[in-house]
Amino acid sequence: MSDTLVAEKKPVAGNIHGIESWPVQRTGKSRLKETNFSHLPFGHVFSDHMLVADYADGAWREVGIVPFGAITLSPANLTLHYGQSIFEGIKAYKNQQGEAAIFRPDKNFDRFLKSAKRMAMPSVPREIFLDGMMQLVALDKDWIPTEEGSSLYIRPLMFATDDLIGVKPGKKYKFILFTSPTGPYYNKPLKLYVEDYYVRACEGGVGAAKTAGNYAASLYPTEEVIRKGFDQILWTDAKEHQYLQECGTMNLFVVINGKVLTAGLDKGTILDGVTRDSVIQILRGQGIDVEERLVSIAELISAHQDGSLQEVFGSGTAANIIFISDMQYHGQNIALKPHKQWEIAPMLLKELNDLHYGRIEDTREWMWRV
Ligand SMILES: Cc1ncc(COP(=O)(O)O)c(C=O)c1O
Repeated sequence: MSDTLVAEKKPVAGNIHGIESWPVQRTGKSRLKETNFSHLPFGHVFSDHMLVADYADGAWREVGIVPFGAITLSPANLTLHYGQSIFEGIKAYKNQQGEAAIFRPDKNFDRFLKSAKRMAMPSVPREIFLDGMMQLVALDKDWIPTEEGSSLYIRPLMFATDDLIGVKPGKKYKFILFTSPTGPYYNKPLKLYVEDYYVRACEGGVGAAKTAGNYAASLYPTEEVIRKGFDQILWTDAKEHQYLQECGTMNLFVVINGKVLTAGLDKGTILDGVTRDSVIQILRGQGIDVEERLVSIAELISAHQDGSLQEVFGSGTAANIIFISDMQYHGQNIALKPHKQWEIAPMLLKELNDLHYGRIEDTREWMWRV
């Protein structure tokens, strides 16, 4: 589908980076002062403005920034029935000088376009997704928390807006980008349940797309394992339940004998995580071996038994780097060594945090200054 841009960009006085900006309708009543920045549970507080764009007749129109608020939908809205809905998750941080920067938003833009293609949706122009994001974050810059572990979570999404019933791709879409100041996602190492019945993704499916149905399908199995006392599911492959995929909203890394292993992207069953890619680049940059390949539960158990299993950790925008304390497979507990003895995951956590909060030089140009 085409991504023609029909809307006119209107330069706004004092705009950032010299990029032209979208029209802004500022809120008359900012909620900033009444927001408690020392209590920011993930995804509950939203900043003052959002960017909205509508697609119809093969082109994006009516792009602009407006006060954050509700939208109305017909009960016949196509997405409510057939689930053409995709989204992204990105974070903006403030350094000690109070300057704001967004972590690798271009990677999320690329992934959003791939998700759109898989879900038979139109692509969104870069000027809307990336320039719009920069403009929105600049406008609501005072909403970026400064405490370590806190950030401004950026949520772009797109869904079909046709008001009709019938299983076919929509002809109309809405793109919205809003932001949410947030504290840490998890605050302790996680216990994982290695899933051997339910499935997150299969070859030929939509596991590589960041689409709503993937998350809906994970809810019931996840609630079941939480009831059993675990924090998250570690998904395995759909055919044999032998190969590790990912866990919750994170990619998974295993360290065996100094070598870092993670599931490859070639089967289309893994979300191509921006943090995953960053972790791999940082590790390879330090000369640490990373293998992107099938990792079996048998390999994990055998490494646990012979003592060569060193670390298991998850990576994701919301959670950052999260240490795994235990994994249970067929009633057998695989307990990891105390993470005080770990080297790789703590190093990655420090490196990423230092980069996010501007404490080290950004040699890879991952932080996009707002
Ligand atoms: C299923 C899934 N896997 C992995 C990730 C990690 O991806 P990223 O590092 O881009 O946040 C996410 C979060 O976006 C996710 O939802």
